Amino acid sequence: MAQQTSGRDGFATRLGVLAATLGSAVGLGNIWKFPALTGQNGGATFLLVYIIATLLVGLPVMISEIMLGRKAKANAVRTYRELGPKGQPWSLIGISGVIAAVLIMGFYTDVAGWVFAYIFKAMSGSIATTDPAVAKEAFVALVGSPTQSLMWQWIVLALVSAIILGGVSSGIERTTKILMPVLLLLLCVVCARSLTLPKAAEGLAFLFTPDFSKITGGVILMALGLAFFKLSIGMGTMTTYGSYFRDDQNIPVTAARVMLCDLSISILAGVAIFPAVFNFGFEPSAGPSLLFMTIPAVFASMPGGQLFTVIFFCLTAIAATGAMLSLFEVPVAWLVEEFKMSRAKATIGTALVLGVMGAPATLSMSVLGDFKMFGLNMFDLYDFVSSNILLPVGGIFICIFAGWVWGSKRTRELLSNGGHLDNAAVVSGFLFVVKWVSPVLVTIVLLNGLKLF
Ligand code: PHE
Repeated sequence: MAQQTSGRDGFATRLGVLAATLGSAVGLGNIWKFPALTGQNGGATFLLVYIIATLLVGLPVMISEIMLGRKAKANAVRTYRELGPKGQPWSLIGISGVIAAVLIMGFYTDVAGWVFAYIFKAMSGSIATTDPAVAKEAFVALVGSPTQSLMWQWIVLALVSAIILGGVSSGIERTTKILMPVLLLLLCVVCARSLTLPKAAEGLAFLFTPDFSKITGGVILMALGLAFFKLSIGMGTMTTYGSYFRDDQNIPVTAARVMLCDLSISILAGVAIFPAVFNFGFEPSAGPSLLFMTIPAVFASMPGGQLFTVIFFCLTAIAATGAMLSLFEVPVAWLVEEFKMSRAKATIGTALVLGVMGAPATLSMSVLGDFKMFGLNMFDLYDFVSSNILLPVGGIFICIFAGWVWGSKRTRELLSNGGHLDNAAVVSGFLFVVKWVSPVLVTIVLLNGLKLF
């Protein structure tokens, strides 16, 4: 083992491990992206495919990554290089992950910027409306302004860099541990209000009554991409986080808990948003703007709504920050350990690259609106290439690596913590899925979704 890994910072407690891993998974993916994609892709059917993808692909890839990261105690690039047979290019998984992290941050910081801006809009009362036209106007005024949206994106980048400079355990662990439960509580409040709206039933029907005619290869790929994005897998984030795991942590159980919590939060967000969409006459397929229009509308229809709106966007901002910290950690850990850069330099360098890279995504809502590649604007392109191509491809190779290269014997050893855990049946099930089911499924969905067969 390389000597500079011995002094690695790590998560101090087992609860801290769970909280920090959840902190990476839970974010704009649950609150913003999940409702947006569900609304655009026909509701319940999409939800169903997404849940299947999470169970059959998401969970196994997550377990594999954490296991390998904890074994190597290194960043993603080094993990696959060191654990793989010499001379084989497995470290490309890590490299592709670094690229995916940068692409995701390119649009994620943009949306996070909108969330931060909405905290202030909520304080001023300017977004407290149940009228779809007024809500849309407020949203467009923000995303359509190049200066405002860029300014918010850069504020977000500066903030995240500042937290990263504080180090792994102090920065990430502390922030996420306290605030996750509060976010959950507030989501329940929104759900309660949303469910008591007069036309709530229509929204619930949309979310929970599947219509199988809506399934296409493209929709399935989208749901699979969301499963990867949601659990922060396929790109080395969970490998890097695994490297901070304690040796006595039960990996399959921790991963399953994270997956279940994460899924519950997404579904809660759906229950908070869709009844309101149908009640107030919003467009379910509004996409990126959906969250920003419906949540203020729900709160505007209840007492104390303004305060709740402010708190809601604050907590969403914090959840987004937890996820961004983990995204940042991928290139930062790589630069520090591969190129012996100081943590400060690596963080600032990453932030500068992101400031430049993120701008085209942000500006695609305004001045660069007509600039398209493969029919997508830069915001959608970053999202598509990362979630729907790089993460699934990374996932295929991670499964092959864990199941076939690392192999059954060593996997049993690692997942039972050297025989200390009595989980042989669970590990056998995991090995079967990771060898035979997940890689095959992802390959088929990917090729079919990209219309390659
Ligand atoms: N899982 C995070 C979310 O849903 C996003 C993310 C993706 C974070 C990939 C890290 C890596 O918001």
